[in-house]
Amino acid sequence: MSQKDRSVAVVTGATSGIGLAVARLLANGGHQVFIGARSAENVAATVKQFQDEGLDVDGSDVDVRSTESVHAWIQAAVHRFGTLDVVVNNAGRSGGGVTADLAEELWQDVIETNLNSVFRVTQEALTTGGLRGKDRGRIINIASTAGKQGVVLGAPYSASKHGVVGFTKALGNELAPTGITVNAVCPGYVETPMAQRVRQGYAAAYDTTEEAILDKFQAKIPLGRYSTPEEVAGLVGYLVSDTAASITSQALNVCGGLGNF
Ligand SMILES: NC(=O)c1ccc[n+]([C@@H]2O[C@H](COP(=O)([O-])OP(=O)(O)OC[C@H]3O[C@@H](n4cnc5c(N)ncnc54)[C@H](OP(=O)(O)O)[C@@H]3O)[C@@H](O)[C@H]2O)c1
Repeated sequence: MSQKDRSVAVVTGATSGIGLAVARLLANGGHQVFIGARSAENVAATVKQFQDEGLDVDGSDVDVRSTESVHAWIQAAVHRFGTLDVVVNNAGRSGGGVTADLAEELWQDVIETNLNSVFRVTQEALTTGGLRGKDRGRIINIASTAGKQGVVLGAPYSASKHGVVGFTKALGNELAPTGITVNAVCPGYVETPMAQRVRQGYAAAYDTTEEAILDKFQAKIPLGRYSTPEEVAGLVGYLVSDTAASITSQALNVCGGLGNF
């Protein structure tokens, strides 16, 4: 791929789990990838790891809950690689509990991190990132099967991910005539550090072991196992490709059959 043909991608939350796998897949596919997460130390270590592998990856710290931080991060990406072609909104957090007892701060933080961030990063990418002026682009939002059905003890998480799916459908229709597609990828259970934290939370809530929670969750998945971050990244890679040009405003599951809707 020549320098001229290179496509610039930004990925939030790319130091762990799904985001890390997405950044690797895009970089291996010849994209210049600018990554971000809150921990500057983890971003630096991840960038170094990729660069040691010969991949064209750079990055800086960003907190997707802050408009100023996101603005500076998109500016840094453009400064480093040029205007954007691909945006992957992946950064997110789990969070929930008994709704009647939920701290408002928790509700606000889950919505900020998972939903308001997607609007914020996307708007900055379209404006500061120059995506708005292009005749081809890809915006991919990592939602969840919890963005299509309710998850017990996960009201803020489910609400945030339903919001991401709604935003995706509306923006996809809005941008369709421009050649910029907007889609949501909806993972079910994916083995990542977040998945481990989720099992810990349910084990505490149900006064049982993490192993028992793992068995219970796996029993719900027709495939019988968690998906891998690479399997989720694979769909992102397809959505970024030229042949996916007519797929927009969709919310597509990668979930071993957990959700068939
Ligand atoms: N794992 C699953 O089973 C599953 C299922 C469905 C959907 N998802 C979704 O997939 C996405 C990735 O999940 P994962 O399981 O890969 O999570 P993970 O392993 O916990 O990684 C989360 C990443 O996001 C970053 N991040 C968190 N808060 C951030 C913030 N405020 N600003 C910037 N970066 C932030 C983290 O780095 P820092 O902490 O350094 O910021 C990290 O790089 C999330 O949106 C999640 O909701 C996951």
